[in-house]
Amino acid sequence: MASLLTGLLGCGPEKAQQPVGLVSPEGANRIEIYLDADGRPGYRVFHRDAVVIDSSGLGFEFQGQPALMGGMELVSQSGSAADETWEMPWGEQRKVRNHYNETELVLREISAPGRELALRFRAYDDGVAFRYEFLPQPGADSVIITAENSEFRLTGDHMAWWIPGDWDIYEHLYQTTRVSGIDALSRRNHPNLAATYIPENAVNTPITLRTDDGVHLSFHEADLTDYAGMTLRVDPETLTFSSALVGSDRTGYKVKRALPFHTPWRTVQIGDRAGDLIESRLIENLNEPNKLGDVSWFTPMKYVGIWWEMHLGVSTWDLEATQDMNTFSTLGKEQTSSKHGATTANAKRYIDFAAANGMKGLLVEGWNTGWDHWIGFEDREGVFDFITPYPDYDLKEVVRYGREKGVEVIMHHETSAAPRTYEQQLDTAYQLMKSLGIHSVKTGYVGKIIPKGEYHHGQWMVNHYRKVLETAAKYDIAINAHEPIKATGLRRTYPNAIAREGLRGQEFNAWATDGGNPPEHIPVVAFTRMLSGPIDFTPGVFDIGLPSKPNNQINTTLAQQLALYVVVYSPIQMACDLPENYEGQPGLQFIRDVGVDWEQTVVLDGEVGDYVAIAREERETGNWFVGAVTDENARDLEVDFSFLPEGQTFRATIYKDGNGAHYRNNPKALEIEPAQVSSASRMSFHMAPGGGLAISLMPE
Ligand code: NOJ
Ligand code: CA
Repeated sequence: MASLLTGLLGCGPEKAQQPVGLVSPEGANRIEIYLDADGRPGYRVFHRDAVVIDSSGLGFEFQGQPALMGGMELVSQSGSAADETWEMPWGEQRKVRNHYNETELVLREISAPGRELALRFRAYDDGVAFRYEFLPQPGADSVIITAENSEFRLTGDHMAWWIPGDWDIYEHLYQTTRVSGIDALSRRNHPNLAATYIPENAVNTPITLRTDDGVHLSFHEADLTDYAGMTLRVDPETLTFSSALVGSDRTGYKVKRALPFHTPWRTVQIGDRAGDLIESRLIENLNEPNKLGDVSWFTPMKYVGIWWEMHLGVSTWDLEATQDMNTFSTLGKEQTSSKHGATTANAKRYIDFAAANGMKGLLVEGWNTGWDHWIGFEDREGVFDFITPYPDYDLKEVVRYGREKGVEVIMHHETSAAPRTYEQQLDTAYQLMKSLGIHSVKTGYVGKIIPKGEYHHGQWMVNHYRKVLETAAKYDIAINAHEPIKATGLRRTYPNAIAREGLRGQEFNAWATDGGNPPEHIPVVAFTRMLSGPIDFTPGVFDIGLPSKPNNQINTTLAQQLALYVVVYSPIQMACDLPENYEGQPGLQFIRDVGVDWEQTVVLDGEVGDYVAIAREERETGNWFVGAVTDENARDLEVDFSFLPEGQTFRATIYKDGNGAHYRNNPKALEIEPAQVSSASRMSFHMAPGGGLAISLMPE
């Protein structure tokens, strides 16, 4: 340990500028932690000897207490190290190595009242992290934080892939600019967002940067527990990020906590290749081990849903068709008709399709009362009922029919952002699910949070999302949250946190007045949002032209829709299109075959915003799948199959963009080709603009 931690244990404040050093196990990253001349703690980060985060200050401001931003001395320092391997019950890989060196510094205010604050830093070879630990204080049992001032001083005007620091939603298009060009305020007033609040020039995390030397950095947080979500304020002149916590207009502060407690980890993943960021498990490693024990009641699965048809406008959630999800408004009664999607007969139709194609789940939205009053109203409290089905939907019969065919119903709880109404019904709603043998629920929080003044990403909502997760766990229920708080690796601790939205999903392609998700969307998402955790993106649109939506189309080829099952990680993957749109489509075979739970993941190649190619080995079967997607540029991709086990031949089926394929005018041109490959094989593939490649590989 001594060689890893150089510096100043026992040194007086006069020597405080001499830093404490902490090196990662293989030496890729090094952190220096110091007190500056004013006694403010700070740190620097080196990646292979180059500074990647320059001297950056740390500290807090409080309500009712002076700030802790200086005047501190070092009381003690201790180091430790860990090298352990843990298993994901489901995930991108089975085994995860958690290998780091750590140091803890206890600091004390030199003048009265002499408050103490500890800093814990960890150096990993795939990044660095730190958190604050608030210790007991004489005369105070809690603190009210009005600002956390953690800085990240960048060493250049790096390329950045960012979304604005919206306090309510992450469903913004990623922007690609230099750090100096980040202008979050220009992203205000998006027409398709039911709730959005961007108070300052800040970004949400994960945000990914690339230096001109080709180092990739991604900033995020881990273990967001009883605290406010962190956005990063951007100073485009000094090229510095600083933590800007999401607040509450009700309380006027950011965080209130009883002492002692610790903050979430502030994380920086560091990789030489863009793909290193995807392979990094830093975020999960910084969370506590599994608290739920055996969660085998949840099995990763593919699912279908009474869902896309509503987004296409073919059917509706509510019985009377008065609510317009596309414009977040209420239509006049004169425009209404009954096109209710969640009927018993329709559910059975989907179950038949799922059963015939080996898909294990059926999501049914719009099954319960409340949908006639969920959008565009202020008084949404007490509206949704999570127990009572609409009269044309026989919940028990659908569950029974599904079970007979091997398909489990996935519950849906849209809360319309009225979390107190949901909390009142949590136990009864989950009791109902348990009695029906339903093990997962998709939740939703569309609209402005009630009570007014709270935001989706503030401490109050962070605690709501956690309460849902913990209560659900008691009933053996897994959560797929839409309009969620961002993932911060909590799936390690609560493996019933199976997936979430928290980005512009497929649905935007059906409604967007801004042209939908552009072809570069997934090549950006894979290196940004996906670093935080599983994504319920809902891939698999085959009828790409969206005939019922003359002004919209999906900006990908069909081959890319298939590739998404491999590229975008989630333990639940939807085949979101209407059953009739899959009929007679040879591409469906890939969705039938593709795995959803992985032994290992290898990122073959990729550049942020341009393209990405990933190979994953399915657990139990030894089947491998390759997925690759490109942005609006056509691309030739060479795949080196050396990831396959040596000495075995695989029967490959290649799904690639056909001749003349193009996301705009020829998206459905798909070529399917068999091949025999082994670990010695190399093959070149052409991806069309907005295109992709999907390969299944079964051992012979
Ligand atoms: C928004 C969700 O993202 C979408 O998937 C869902 O269908 C609607 N809310 C209704 O809950
Ligand atoms: Ca959404």
